[in-house]
Amino acid sequence: MKKVTKAVIPVAGLGTRFLPATKAMPKEMLTVVDRPVVQYAVDEAREAGIEHIVFVTGRNKHVIEDHFDIQPELIETLTRAGKTAQLAVIEELQLDAGNVSFTRQQVPLGLGHAVWCARDLVGDEPFALLLPDMVSFGVQGCLATAMQLYRSTGGNVLSVEQCDPLETKSYGIVGKGEPVAEGFAITEMVEKPEPSQAPSNYYINGRYILQPEIFDLLGTQERGAGNEIQLTDAMARLARTQPFHAAPFTGRMFDTGSKAGFIEANVAMALAREDLRDLVYGPIAELVALHARGAGTPSRINRSA
Ligand code: G1P
Repeated sequence: MKKVTKAVIPVAGLGTRFLPATKAMPKEMLTVVDRPVVQYAVDEAREAGIEHIVFVTGRNKHVIEDHFDIQPELIETLTRAGKTAQLAVIEELQLDAGNVSFTRQQVPLGLGHAVWCARDLVGDEPFALLLPDMVSFGVQGCLATAMQLYRSTGGNVLSVEQCDPLETKSYGIVGKGEPVAEGFAITEMVEKPEPSQAPSNYYINGRYILQPEIFDLLGTQERGAGNEIQLTDAMARLARTQPFHAAPFTGRMFDTGSKAGFIEANVAMALAREDLRDLVYGPIAELVALHARGAGTPSRINRSA
């Protein structure tokens, strides 16, 4: 079985759900506490043993390239000021020279098309795919969990979680087959089905390990749900000739692509951080209590409420 060393991270989306914040700034650079959303995906990929990151980017996303480059002036200033803790933070996230590539999705034709744009940079080897909107929390990262199953099964592995059965229309949904190692065989895949058409409530949560044969299928994939070229449709075709397994994720995934998920991720991450927990717990609990008493809209919040 071939080792997975490359990860594709699509970052071309326009982020219209976060306007006006995303008018000039990529949505992937919005921060969950003090790290850009895209940094969490890179950290998770490295934890899972990924060596090379391929970003599928778009216009107005230069700042993502800058974020993963060296900033000599910043390093020099921090060094001169003796700010060793901040220097360590910058150094720890530095990707090695040559281990990061960028290609552009010129037109927004959907996730399937974005992945296809990475075909030459990935080449003829299995690769991981991380959708950066989805930020995972857990003892073990989501991709590392999927990688563990991949080592038993090979083939293609999708990370899954269970969703509210009424929300299948928001996700790619898989059918549940026989248990295999810590996961199960996937019997079918459908993109955004109505609850009545969904084969289960196991949704694809944005982490994939895929074989390179997916690229040829993506190249001929017709538009599907939302009139976009859907990765799920091409995976369903690949499943006719290759095995697909699901790795249930036992941590927690936050969809930072939605405003509610983004705020939840910030609160969860702040409460999980030792340096912040005590500082934020009280104020958050106070706001929640105020809200519960019906005094929670900002214009009405005051200390005596
Ligand atoms: C994409 C995938 C979908 C997956 C989801 C996870 O949908 O097409 O299969 O379940 O990401 O976030 P999107 O969120 O881009 O509509």
